[in-house]
Amino acid sequence: MTKVTVLGAAGGIGQPLSLLLKMSPYVSTLALYDLRLAPGVARDLSHINTNATCVGFDKDAIGEALDGAHIVVIPAGVPRKPGMTRDDLFKINAGIVANLVRAAAQHAPRARILVISNPVNSTVPVACETLKKMGAFQPGKVMGVTTLDVVRAQTFLSDSLGADSYSRESMKRAVTVVGGHSGATIVPVLLDPKLRSKLVGRRRYDSYVHRVQFGGDEVVEAKQGAGSATLSMALAGYHFADQILRSIHLEKPDVAPLPAFVYLPGIEGGAELQKKLNTKTEYFAAPVELRRGDVVRIDTKWLDSLGDLERKTLQVCLGELDGNIQKGRRFVQSKL
Ligand code: NAI
Repeated sequence: MTKVTVLGAAGGIGQPLSLLLKMSPYVSTLALYDLRLAPGVARDLSHINTNATCVGFDKDAIGEALDGAHIVVIPAGVPRKPGMTRDDLFKINAGIVANLVRAAAQHAPRARILVISNPVNSTVPVACETLKKMGAFQPGKVMGVTTLDVVRAQTFLSDSLGADSYSRESMKRAVTVVGGHSGATIVPVLLDPKLRSKLVGRRRYDSYVHRVQFGGDEVVEAKQGAGSATLSMALAGYHFADQILRSIHLEKPDVAPLPAFVYLPGIEGGAELQKKLNTKTEYFAAPVELRRGDVVRIDTKWLDSLGDLERKTLQVCLGELDGNIQKGRRFVQSKL
């Protein structure tokens, strides 16, 4: 019996993500919460003939929505409009994430918390610091969802190399993404050096990296003010949640370990990663190993695949990441 609660379930991401979760054989209860429309979305999904029971909750029923949840997914908040960076969302989304995480700690203390709300580089520190303040922080249970970067990195790699010879499906183990989840902090790591050489040889490496880092802007601009990625994000969020669900149900993962933006000091491999990257950053996105749905180890194998170009991109990432992290920490500390 696994209960998943989606906070922000009536939004652009929340609705298709909830639909995908309703299709999951691992979900027995799907609780949808939003400030508006969640009961309507839930009633709609509840007519689908899959086993998960789907219930929607009004804005004053967050306790009930969260009660006993094993996984809490948070896509609540405002999305970008053209010309905005993810950082511009901080003022609104930081408070939303802090309040929702506080409620999750009270009503679902054992839940894994999956933070989708942007800017992830800051909202994950907001979540972790909020939980620390409550004495409820379990590092392996808080994950910033960066899977969309991986999905894009695979798609764009196929596009850059030529989809006729390098199908999108065949790119699934060819690249991962580490660092953070905005602009220059997004660092694609080619796991096959031959593919990197091909990109470099065809003078496509820089444009490839740039597209992975700023691919989100393509969607924001194309949607002309109506928001940012929702459908591709819903799929990415579902893929990530599915790995947690599989792990809870003792099923083997069906994809290479996905990265998550996590608190390094509390997790095995975190200190090793900091040492190898020569950084004191406390938060970083890297592929994670799960046990019973919790992050138990940070994978450092990808470090062996790094080329000089990726090392340079990583240095830029680390330079920018710290400011984002401190912003999140200061937000929580200022509320003392
Ligand atoms: P949206 O505006 O369509 O939906 C957000 C939903 O959150 C709305 O239904 C709203 O009522 C709800 N909400 C706001 N405050 C709430 C609260 N306190 N409690 C419960 N629900 C609340 O936005 P969209 O497109 O779904 O994006 C959501 C977030 O996800 C944004 O911050 C966006 O930047 C982020 N995002 C993250 C990505 C990632 O890769 N991690 C990718 C794309 C978007």
